[in-house]
Amino acid sequence: MKKYTFTLICNLFLLGLSAQCVDNGNYWNESWVSCTTAPNPNSARGNSYWILYEFHEAQYIDSSHFWNANRAGESGWGAKDVVIDYSTDGTSWTELGTFVFPQADESSSYEGFPGPSFNDVSIQKILITILSTHDGGSCASLAEVKFNIDQTACYGIVDACGICDGPGALTWYVDADNDGLGNPESFITSCTQPAGYVPDNSDLCDDGALSWVDVSKLFTDNGCLSCHGAGTAGGLNLTSYTKAALGGNKCGPNMLTGDVLVSIITIDGYAGCGQAIDAPSMNDRVGGAFDANELALLQAWIDGGAPEVCTDYCAENKIIATDYPSGAIIHQKASNQIRANNVIQLGSNVIYDAGFEIYLDADFEVEQGADFWAKIGGCGVPPQQRSGSKK
Ligand code: HEC
Repeated sequence: MKKYTFTLICNLFLLGLSAQCVDNGNYWNESWVSCTTAPNPNSARGNSYWILYEFHEAQYIDSSHFWNANRAGESGWGAKDVVIDYSTDGTSWTELGTFVFPQADESSSYEGFPGPSFNDVSIQKILITILSTHDGGSCASLAEVKFNIDQTACYGIVDACGICDGPGALTWYVDADNDGLGNPESFITSCTQPAGYVPDNSDLCDDGALSWVDVSKLFTDNGCLSCHGAGTAGGLNLTSYTKAALGGNKCGPNMLTGDVLVSIITIDGYAGCGQAIDAPSMNDRVGGAFDANELALLQAWIDGGAPEVCTDYCAENKIIATDYPSGAIIHQKASNQIRANNVIQLGSNVIYDAGFEIYLDADFEVEQGADFWAKIGGCGVPPQQRSGSKK
């Protein structure tokens, strides 16, 4: 059931003004009648028969319904040619259109007729000016008007993404190593999540080097903490880097060397730390279980020395094949070489920053209007400590 708004502003020049505020239109026995013209609120309409509706607050009207004068002997006074104006600001007027209103049949079952919708704009006032009546006499009359409010309309502010009271375009961060964590230095703003981008921006080593932040997320997501949380099954506590680095009763710190951790996760009854670890494998004990990609990430972290933080990590070489869309802000670093065969699209802002060489393949392209920098500097070893391999 929709909400109906029906507000009348009386014009003192009118002979009589009354209205019915009922949902069904059969109670037509009272009507607004005017037998004198008066200066129209819209000066363009001069002296005329008019009725003005004003809403307490601006409203979106998606449909309307009219009942013409229907009292016995008075249907001839009914409005015929009508012009409807509306105002969004309460002062200036926009013409919605001219309409021909059918004459009422003076029957008790008169149901009126549908009126116009109002252009999907927020309306403060509606002005109905009667240009002619059905009997052409000097009295104009209308029984009832109903405006239906569009309840789905936005009464707040439509954001840049077209959402009512929405947050606007969000910032998305490049997730090059596909661990769900994004690179705070490379991002784009967009209404929808672009492929390869995530909302998180906590990955200081999006190059593939993992830190405890990345790895602890894997333990959490895969359900390891249900046994290796505060209860510490087998002595292993995976809730912090310091505790995890101590390992458990069987492997101790060896847990973070070689392929010990991945073996414990995947091999039933793994016996690589002097004593067998009771079957089944850790992956069989959890709901989630590490998949191949996650196991590879975990192994890469251990191979990289299982660091707590990864800020010092720097990829030696990088191959960049992903196109950067308009609005992307990208800073790619490598200690040795960056090789690129992607397209830097119009409106993006991209820096390739490598220690010794930036190699741009034949397919590499910078569109006109993109901001692209190739810079020799790179990450990792400070320049003065580099060995003399540069030619
Ligand atoms: C249902 C409980 C349970 C879950 C879930 C579980 N573990 Fe375990 N885990 C154990 C128990 C119990 C031991 C000790 C076994 C022993 O001492 O023989 C153990 C031992 C280990 C060890 C060996 C520690 C050491 O050095 O002794 C590692 C590593 C380990 N778990 C990792 C994991 C990982 C990673 C996950 C998530 C994939 C996981 N566990 C999920 C119960 C669990």
